[in-house]
Amino acid sequence: MDSKTIRKKYIEFFKNLKGYKHKEIAPAKLVPENDPTTLFTSSGMQPLVPYLLGQEHPEGKRLVNSQPSFRAEDIEEVGDNRHTTFFEMLGNWSLGDYFKEEQLKWCWEFLTKEIGLDKNKLHVAVFEGTDDVPKDTESYEIWKNLGVEDEHIHFYGVDKNWWSRSGPPDKMPAGEIGGPDSEVFYDFGTPHDPKFGKECHPNCDCGRFLEICNSVFIQYRKQEDGTLKELPQKNVDFGGGLERLTATTLDTPDVFKTDLYVPIIRIIETISGKKYEENAEAMRVIIDHLKAATFLVVQGVESSNKLQGYVLRRLIRRSVIKMRKLEKIIDEHDVVAVCDAIVEIYDGIYLDTEKDKRVISDIISTEVFRFTKTLEKGLKEVEKIDQIDGKKAFDLYQTYGFPVEITEELFKEKGQIVDREQFRKEFEKHREVSRTASAGMFKGGLADHSEIVTKYHTATHLLHQALRDVLGPEVFQKGSNITSERLRFDFSFNRKMTEEEIKQVENLVNKRIEENLQVDHIIIPLEKAKEMNAIGLFNEKYADKVSIYGVGPGFKISPDAKDKRLRGGYYSLEFCGGPHVEKTGAIGKIKIAKEEAISSGIRRIRAEVVLR
Ligand code: ALA
Repeated sequence: MDSKTIRKKYIEFFKNLKGYKHKEIAPAKLVPENDPTTLFTSSGMQPLVPYLLGQEHPEGKRLVNSQPSFRAEDIEEVGDNRHTTFFEMLGNWSLGDYFKEEQLKWCWEFLTKEIGLDKNKLHVAVFEGTDDVPKDTESYEIWKNLGVEDEHIHFYGVDKNWWSRSGPPDKMPAGEIGGPDSEVFYDFGTPHDPKFGKECHPNCDCGRFLEICNSVFIQYRKQEDGTLKELPQKNVDFGGGLERLTATTLDTPDVFKTDLYVPIIRIIETISGKKYEENAEAMRVIIDHLKAATFLVVQGVESSNKLQGYVLRRLIRRSVIKMRKLEKIIDEHDVVAVCDAIVEIYDGIYLDTEKDKRVISDIISTEVFRFTKTLEKGLKEVEKIDQIDGKKAFDLYQTYGFPVEITEELFKEKGQIVDREQFRKEFEKHREVSRTASAGMFKGGLADHSEIVTKYHTATHLLHQALRDVLGPEVFQKGSNITSERLRFDFSFNRKMTEEEIKQVENLVNKRIEENLQVDHIIIPLEKAKEMNAIGLFNEKYADKVSIYGVGPGFKISPDAKDKRLRGGYYSLEFCGGPHVEKTGAIGKIKIAKEEAISSGIRRIRAEVVLR
């Protein structure tokens, strides 16, 4: 089966369930907005955290979608037949509605009937329990009643059958949600490789089994004192990897042999004159990394040395190195040709051939060109090294992206060998640091950050409206990003703001804060929200009902405001999922620290909350 058919079947299956119709929701951006706890959207549940915690979702309690996801922490794993940093997650959610019985039944029906997987090749895993959380005998019974044989049901502990964004319960920060899960594995029946352990089992890494989906029963929230507390509602969070599901329908353990990758392989084969079969590892890295890079670039990420921009840079550089390994001379046009093939696969689904190809071409070619120059510099550095060792080899890898094999090849002529063990130790040390850094993104979790982030979030709404009041209604939000230290707000405007305008905007926001205006959360039909002139970044193409936030009910528009449109009697009215403060007075006071251009027609403001 091809991926388009599976994606469609999945969405339709849940949208049409008798008595349990699901609403399709638009996928979130890969770079989450206003969520400083994480760099990337790495699963479908991420944008739904407030709703899993109990906030009412405008589309109801049963949701479904396919979410492009990115897991930077898997970057070093890419190269085998199943790991990718970028993937699509088919997801369905129950926000305190149905639970295990329905979920496992539908999951089984989808796998065995809708996409026709052979049930004899499926194995399931359930949670074996801890002192605090009971063994999941309920899921065990449900699987048995569905006809899964005892030998195909396996019990595992918190390391395998517990899911939260930060891992098992002891790794969950206070405020984080999670729960026991039940996974389904596909058995390719390949011989077990004893290198991975005496006996083979679904979670063995020898490649015989492939995890294809996971039903998480999000039921707990980590407390400040380290205990787990039951959430007021029992949720289901299902995730199925589209690439892996597609591969299993073809009975191949290699996800790169699906329609989501084959056209890209063909392009690389043409450029390099090499075959996939003999060069699988390099081609997989190129394809996966450029796919992730393509999505990030289209969504506005630019290469840099920080945060998402740094990850983008690493993806592009790693793929260029691999392309050079396939073929001696490569230039930016080759990389762009690969990206074009990627866009075509997702044309009309997430990407737009006409529009996106140009953006990608500009940004990716600039980065590739720059990197080629860096590489040349790196080669000069290599010449200066008299004696190579593992640490120096790692520095070359880190700074110039030289894979250790290339360094070995250079130094072979000088009769020197690289101490691989030392290289490995340096590598592990670095990996530990980046792991801690990404775990640090969750440090304190949503709970710890929530107060200050919530203040900044409401301040962003006030800023958006104040800009329109001062500069005119052509001002429109283009993006925003909040950390616990500052807010960043991008908006359309085609010239530098004057000092006076900046002061006016700052004063207006602070005035609204001093007035201690009430903030209302309203869920209404889309049409009604449009009638009320609600503004904001709105891409819920499937929504009937929408969530909007209004600041200051009963507000009278000032005669000197340039934006005179009525907004249902609110000062600010925006499409938004929250959260927000209850009254603006809680924000404190804001200061605009910077106003600058970020691209043609787009300005960026950086503002800080000056706490009382
Ligand atoms: N959120 C769950 C996962 O990522 C479904 O596996």
